[in-house]
Amino acid sequence: MAQPLSYLVYCRTGFEREAVAELGEACAELGLNGYGQAQPNSGYARFVLTDIDQRPFGLLHLLPWQKLIFARQLMLIIADLQLPEQDRVSEVVANLPGDLRLAEVRVEHSDSDHGRELAALCRGLQKPLEQSLRDRRQLREGEGLTLHLLLTSGRSGMLGISHPLNASAHVNGIIRLRFPKQAPSRSTLKLDEAFLTLLTEQERQRYLKPGMSAVDLGAAPGGWSYQLVRRGITVTAIDNGAIDPALMASGMVEHLRVDGFTYEPRKRVDWLVCDMIDQPHRVAQRMAVWFSRHWADHLIFNLKLPMKKRRDEVQRCLALVEKAAVSSSLNCELRARQLYHDRDEVTVYLGRR
Ligand SMILES: C[S@@+](CC[C@H](N)C(=O)[O-])C[C@H]1O[C@@H](n2cnc3c(N)ncnc32)[C@H](O)[C@@H]1O
Repeated sequence: MAQPLSYLVYCRTGFEREAVAELGEACAELGLNGYGQAQPNSGYARFVLTDIDQRPFGLLHLLPWQKLIFARQLMLIIADLQLPEQDRVSEVVANLPGDLRLAEVRVEHSDSDHGRELAALCRGLQKPLEQSLRDRRQLREGEGLTLHLLLTSGRSGMLGISHPLNASAHVNGIIRLRFPKQAPSRSTLKLDEAFLTLLTEQERQRYLKPGMSAVDLGAAPGGWSYQLVRRGITVTAIDNGAIDPALMASGMVEHLRVDGFTYEPRKRVDWLVCDMIDQPHRVAQRMAVWFSRHWADHLIFNLKLPMKKRRDEVQRCLALVEKAAVSSSLNCELRARQLYHDRDEVTVYLGRR
């Protein structure tokens, strides 16, 4: 009997409950029945689809990955595998539908302690699996799906497929960014990743142009401001703490030691970014004010999550922001994601459409 299909998402370890709840809800909205499976600290979560006939290709588009907040990657699992140590590749190939056309193959592991121990094995299997699929003419660069072999141990794994337009383009769902030596803090990677993940290429070109202006709330020591300045955007940095002297020497940053929750800009800016550590709903309320009063066109802000009911809190904050936008009759684009560089937090983009 064929194995049931399931959706699988990769997530930050410790967030499997949130990931599976979100996935289950998204499936329910689409009328897909099934049940969730999430092992604590595994780094992934799964929703097994019951009473579905075998139409894997249609399912690849049905559930929009971009709508999921806690998912780093989305795929459809087509087989659970037992992998004989002497020949894992043949077992993978034997479980692949013959009509599957692939443009890419990724042998992956989860971002958990256990998963990372499998990294060397993943690297070792990558080339032989590619070669085997090329020999069978199932893998050809260009158009096609992505095959994921998620190793769960040296002897077991899952075989998944994803569509390049509805999935992360990165191996293990993790974007690898180089830390810029001149950046004042590691937080800089969060905003870099947010720009790359929450905006499309086209939007980055339109919305991040030299000569634009930004306000950075909770700016010290300047990691986020650095990302704006390196794109030629001038910044008003709001924080009682000190801003990196080298960044100040760029001449593109004005530093104001005032409260980020009461500061109002003298004139409209293109960007508001906010990394203040505070209660998430307080931050969301302030973001709603900035957006509905049109003080900024585009906002990126971080919501630090509470210890419990983390997903409820995110939903509450997003609803608050959306309500404010709708009641000001503004068409808004709202996207949220727990980024790789986020810890117990999610990052939100709110922009005018
Ligand atoms: C996580 S750090 C920001 C790091 C910064 N984004 C970077 O990349 O270097 C949070 C900052 O928020 C500031 N902050 C917290 N509450 C604030 C408030 N009410 N007004 C202004 N800044 C605040 C803190 O002083 C702290 O520097």
